[in-house]
Amino acid sequence: MTVFVVPMEAALGAEVRGLDLAREMDNATANEIAQAWYARQVLLFCGQSLNPDRLAAFSRHFGALDVVPAWRKFHPPGSKDVLVISNVIENGEPIGVLGYGEAEWHTDMSYIDLPPRASVLHALEVPQAGGETSFLDMYAALESMPRELRGAIEGKVINHDSSYDSAGGLRPGAATFDDVREAPGARHPAIRLHPESGRRALYLGRRRNAWIVGMDEKDSDVLLDALWAHVLQPRFVWTHSWRVGDVLVWDNRCTMHRRAPFDASARRVMHRTQIVGERPIAA
Ligand code: SIN
Repeated sequence: MTVFVVPMEAALGAEVRGLDLAREMDNATANEIAQAWYARQVLLFCGQSLNPDRLAAFSRHFGALDVVPAWRKFHPPGSKDVLVISNVIENGEPIGVLGYGEAEWHTDMSYIDLPPRASVLHALEVPQAGGETSFLDMYAALESMPRELRGAIEGKVINHDSSYDSAGGLRPGAATFDDVREAPGARHPAIRLHPESGRRALYLGRRRNAWIVGMDEKDSDVLLDALWAHVLQPRFVWTHSWRVGDVLVWDNRCTMHRRAPFDASARRVMHRTQIVGERPIAA
């Protein structure tokens, strides 16, 4: 198969042309895609039509699928490997997660010990406006960091809170707390080594209730605010406006993402898979 990789005019992202993801892929093509993914961190495939089984089969090229028990209520019929992300309500019940509001900047499930390495999202229905997904290059954010700021975060570990989702909702069964040092979740190095690219990336997870382990709470907030102010610069970002049939694959080890809000009365239906990751390696 002849594959064309066209980099976005942005710090990260590339479109891969010439592939029908509903068909089996040979090893050489899969390897070409993997190399493009390591280089550009997010890949876009347009005009695809994948049922849940084919989406799962394509996703397995990036590793073993992560089966997340909390997704139980939101699988499409007949598939336990796929999560529905949607604002649509049917018979009084949401068919998926995340609603129509903003999903704040985050990297997927950084609050568990083995956060997923990749996520794959396939657009089935999209609103006319809004609902764009933006990605942020965490290699570039680290590499361009002022020396003093980098010195302050080198060797530090961040506690990643598991109690809130990226849409701002308290997760089922999670308790509230007053002191971020008591936030449940996982601890990971603030700078991690990407096992395939060999590059170092800043690993922030999400801002809410983050705490730099061992620091006074106020000092931790000051440092985290400085890091986030540095990271949230347009030069590190690529924003994707969805069309039906798009598939995006992103690398959670070296990117963050955000979903823009959209009109509550519009329909947005996406199918998503996630790939098992490894324990982040301190760098
Ligand atoms: C996500 O944050 O995993 C979903 C992003 C999106 O719906 O665009």
